[in-house]
Amino acid sequence: MASYDVIIIGSGPGGYVAAIRCAQLGLKTACVEGRETLGGTCLNVGCIPSKALLHASHQLHEAEHNFARMGLKGKAPSVDWKQMLAYKDEVIGQNTKGIEFLFKKNKIDWLKGWGSIPEAGKVRVGDETFDTKNIIIATGSETSPVPGADVTVDEKIVVTSTGALELSKVPKKMTVIGAGVIGLELGSVYARLGSEVTVVEFLDHVTPGMDGEVQKNFQKLLKKQGLEFILGAAVQSVEALKTKAKVHYKLRKDDSEHQLDADVVLVATGRRPFTEGLGLGELGIETTKGGQIKTDKTWQTSVKGIYAIGDAIEGPMLAHKAEDEGMAAAEVIAGKHGHVNYGVIPGVIYTHPEVAAVGETEETLKDQGHAYKVGKFSFMGNGRAKANFAADGFVKILADKETDRILGAHIIGPMAGDLIHEICVAMEFGASSEDLALTCHAHPTYSEAVREAALACGDGPIHS
Ligand code: FAD
Ligand code: NAI
Repeated sequence: MASYDVIIIGSGPGGYVAAIRCAQLGLKTACVEGRETLGGTCLNVGCIPSKALLHASHQLHEAEHNFARMGLKGKAPSVDWKQMLAYKDEVIGQNTKGIEFLFKKNKIDWLKGWGSIPEAGKVRVGDETFDTKNIIIATGSETSPVPGADVTVDEKIVVTSTGALELSKVPKKMTVIGAGVIGLELGSVYARLGSEVTVVEFLDHVTPGMDGEVQKNFQKLLKKQGLEFILGAAVQSVEALKTKAKVHYKLRKDDSEHQLDADVVLVATGRRPFTEGLGLGELGIETTKGGQIKTDKTWQTSVKGIYAIGDAIEGPMLAHKAEDEGMAAAEVIAGKHGHVNYGVIPGVIYTHPEVAAVGETEETLKDQGHAYKVGKFSFMGNGRAKANFAADGFVKILADKETDRILGAHIIGPMAGDLIHEICVAMEFGASSEDLALTCHAHPTYSEAVREAALACGDGPIHS
């Protein structure tokens, strides 16, 4: 029986990145995966397929709304849903096969099946038990049930994001429970494809945790695109009928009861760690109340030689956070210094316009009593954005009032998910807004809006 330096359980962005880095650092490495394909939630039923559908549906939106304005005439494309799903599946296949290739290239053994940990230093997969010096748990997450509500998911009419990525047809009416990232990304896809989409949200605003000004603007822009919002509403139950469902909810302000009919209901009220069957209790591995595995600063759990990363531990449930932890844990195991800067992890919502954020919000700074200044610039003043019908939104930079050091940034606008990284790099280097403002930015690019927001922290932007 083979024995290893490291066995990683789970091949999502946390697990596969950890495996590759372990192998690169000379450790004999295996990765256990129970799914048919590598890549975890992200590549199979998360980031990648949702971005493929967002891309395809955005092209339709462009053709319907902007082509004629640019002198591109002709019949607008119609939706061949089966083909769109086939395109999405092809993209998934290319990506998951890519990980298989990288495993072979780096001589990583894929142990196929569901893994458990009978004791520290051993991993069981099916009938086989493997010895290993170290274990990394990277088992990810699953959809949370709607808190306090009676909702049964059948993945046909009442679906999680997984079912929503392979509906048999585009529904006429869709109700989304939860105005978080999944609800708004997938809600946007179906709204663009012609569904009447209503989003029911418990809070009085969308996207909890985001900058308040961004939340308001984002909701307004999505409303313009046809998404309806019922805010301050707690879903009580979903009644499944033969071909549709009724969503029962209460408005929090007056406890009044209401209902909505839908052909499809998307449950998007958050995700929770998936650690079933690993044997955490028997091993004495400590978890939080929310089920996240507790780790120390080196990603080691309460049991020596067992590490945990990604959605299974605390922190934002994001692929790139899992990847960074995967690399860092591998480096720690190899005797190097693993590092993740949790203060500079960007978050992106891939709607149109995109929304991106890093660091503090005005709300968190006010809570901390931290004196700050705001530099804001609208994409209306950006030539490239105007030419591309993408002038909705703004860049907002928050900097320390005294030192000018950048504390956070919030972008709603074209390519926000790419633009944010210039600010992330600046923050990693402890830069001031003046450093960004003094950096020459090519014209005409969207990134000029970032520079203008930085100028707005000082003597003022040029184009507003
Ligand atoms: P996962 O990707 O969940 O992988 C865990 C893997 O472990 C799974 O393949 C599972 O089968 C396997 N596993 C579990 N238990 C065992 C076991 N006992 N034995 C063997 N294998 C096991 N994040 C972003 O940053 N950007 C996005 O655009 C984005 N879009 C998303 C869209 C959707 C619809 C969803 C649902 C999520 C999205 N996310 C996105 C979140 C992202 O997918 C997760 O944060 C990320 O996948 C977490 O990586 P992970 O490696 O911790 O776990
Ligand atoms: P979320 O936590 O982003 O949003 C859930 C929403 O549901 C919240 O606004 C919450 O107030 C609401 N809610 C909870 N109970 C409710 C009820 N009874 N009635 C009405 N509303 C209710 O969770 P989501 O969207 O499911 O995403 C899960 C995770 O996946 C997130 O942590 C996110 O980080 C990750 N993800 C990331 C993406 C990205 O980076 N682009 C894309 C998709 C998912």
